[in-house]
Parts: sequence; structure tokens; C-alpha cells
Amino acid sequence: RQFQKGVKHLCEKAISRVPGKYILPVHERPGRAYGEDAAMRRKLLSLPLIDFAELRSSLDRPRALRSLATACEQYGFFQLVNHGIPDEVISSMIDASTRFFGQPYEERAKYMSSDMTSPVRYGTSFNQSKDKVFCWRDFLKITCEPMPQVLPHWPSSPTDMRRVVASYAKETKYLFLKIMEAILESLGLPLPAPGRGCVAEDGGIMDRLQEGSQMMVTNFYPPCPEPDLTLGMPPHSDYGFLTLLLQDRVPGLQILHGDNWVTVKPIPGSFVVNVGDHLEIFSNGRYKSVLHRVLVNSTESRISVATLHSLPKECSISPALELIDEGNPRRYMDTDFASFLAYISSCEPKKKNFLESRK
Ligand code: SIN
Ligand code: FE2
Repeated sequence: RQFQKGVKHLCEKAISRVPGKYILPVHERPGRAYGEDAAMRRKLLSLPLIDFAELRSSLDRPRALRSLATACEQYGFFQLVNHGIPDEVISSMIDASTRFFGQPYEERAKYMSSDMTSPVRYGTSFNQSKDKVFCWRDFLKITCEPMPQVLPHWPSSPTDMRRVVASYAKETKYLFLKIMEAILESLGLPLPAPGRGCVAEDGGIMDRLQEGSQMMVTNFYPPCPEPDLTLGMPPHSDYGFLTLLLQDRVPGLQILHGDNWVTVKPIPGSFVVNVGDHLEIFSNGRYKSVLHRVLVNSTESRISVATLHSLPKECSISPALELIDEGNPRRYMDTDFASFLAYISSCEPKKKNFLESRK
């Protein structure tokens, strides 16, 4: 039970060894998986760079769309620069999160909940009621829509938290929709005019994404005395269409590229964007949601903020009809969002078994 209080609480006791609860079986430890060694782990990978300003320029857009398609096919990840969100919105989000996790445990614990549908959930590990081994991470999950209904549930301390989260949520939602327009175009799909159905049978995909779900996950990874024995987050893929991830300057995110876990080089202030399971289904497997995990280190704490975007929760998710033909048979069954979420919260290991089961 003591571990339910999380890793920050644990670290405040100045421990020099990782408690057994956090020690992974040898073959799942970060230094051992997929034949990786310590030297490779120190080498940082620069993700394919997508320049949002180029996507907005009619001259540069065609080339930027080709780079976008290649990144989504070969990495499932890209680094978005020149995104246009004001620096102040980005730095306040990191700053307010740092101050949230800096508060006494009792203040953070007000937002603990075992109810998966609660609009705010503070917790530790990945799924603390199910995890056999805990991971080295505390988190705050915030549902961002419908904003007028959920905002009064958001943390009221630090005092600027709600204002900062609301403006960050609005900016990232707008950016997500703009990236999705580019993604549809890169898949060769017709862009529906606003309010007009085009891609999906029941209304345009952009309209549905506009009304869609948005979840913000702020992760705090304190220093870990024995970082080779544990992980900040176990291998998983994200469920939505896209995740926009903001990380500070401390490396930690690893993606599975080919057969290797590679550490992503942080570019502070920019976004790591990754394809989620729903986009993999929607693109009929052309764009892949890729497994990723998080390493911890012995000297520095790390903060990241992920926003996950998808369709409204009552929608079903299916491959775009335009991407199915004789040469490209349908690769996934339809699925509904609710059973997707229920499956994810029950699955072990937290990998892509759900997608596999929908083939
Ligand atoms: C995540 O996978 O959502 C978090 C990744 C990170 O902390 O970099
Ligand atoms: Fe993730």
C-alpha cells in the first residue's frame, strides 16, 4: 500500500536502492531488451523533423506532406517545429506542472480516484490497481472536453493551473486538427469542407475529430537510484489518432525503431507527435502506432505532457473506405471506443494486443 503514494513521495525518503515493487524481470529491464546496450542508449535519435510553417505554405506543403507520410510510415513519430503555439503557453504548462508535482503529497492526493471516468485522476505507475511491477512515474490525467463541464473538476492549486491547462488544451486541439488535415491529405484522402460529410459514412472525419475526445497526461519522473532496474513507463502504444507530447530537456522517451529501442533527442518547446492505434486503424495500417517506453535516470527529474486526441467516445473506429480496395484489403474490424478503453485498462502486457485482436 505504501507504494500507492507514488515515486515522488518515495524519493523524499532519500532511498539508495529501488524497492522490489519496482524491479522488472531481467528480460524487461531497459538495458536488456532487444539486444540493446548502454552505449546505444546514450546515443540520441533525432526524429524526422516536420516544419509546421512549411505545411502552411502553399509552396512548401507538397514536400512537407511527403516527409509527413514517410515519418508516419517508417517511424510512427515525428518532431514538429515552428508549430505557432506561443512560447508562453508552452513554458507555463511545464512550469505549472512542475509546481503541481512540487506540492505536498496531501494536496496532490485530493485528485486520486479509482474511477477511470473521473475527469481528473492523480496516480502512480501505469495502472496501479493491476500492475505487478510498478513503474517509476507519477501522473495527473485531465479530461479536456467538454471544457465548461470538466474545468470545475480540474486542480485548483497551483492557483493558475486551470487557466494554464485551458489555454494549453485549446492551442493543442487546434494544432492537432491542423496536423490531421495534413495527415488526411498525405493519405490521399479528400479534405471535407467544414460541416460536410466526405470521408466517413456518417459525417466528415474532421467534424468528428473537432468534437472529439482530448485527454491530457502530465508525467513526473523523479531521479531513480537504480535506473537500470525499472522503467518510467512500460512499452505501450497510444490509443487515439495522434498524441502531441511536450518533453523538457531531459531525455527519457524511447521508441521501438526496427528492432531497437532508441532514445529520442529532446527539442525543448517543440512537440513529439506520434500515430495512435485509432489512426493506424483509420489508415488501414498505412500509418503505424509504434511502441514506446520511458527510461529514468539517477540525477534529474523529468516532466512530460502528453495530449491524446481522438473521436468522440461514442464513435466507432473503422478504416477509411477510400483506403480499402482490391490491392489493400480491410485490415481491421470496426471497434468502438468504449471497449477499446476497457480493453486497454485490463490488458497485460500493455502492448498492441488490442490492435492485433482487431485484425
Ligand atoms: C507517453 O508515452 O505518453 C509519455 C512519454 C514521455 O514521458 O516522454
Ligand atoms: Fe505514450
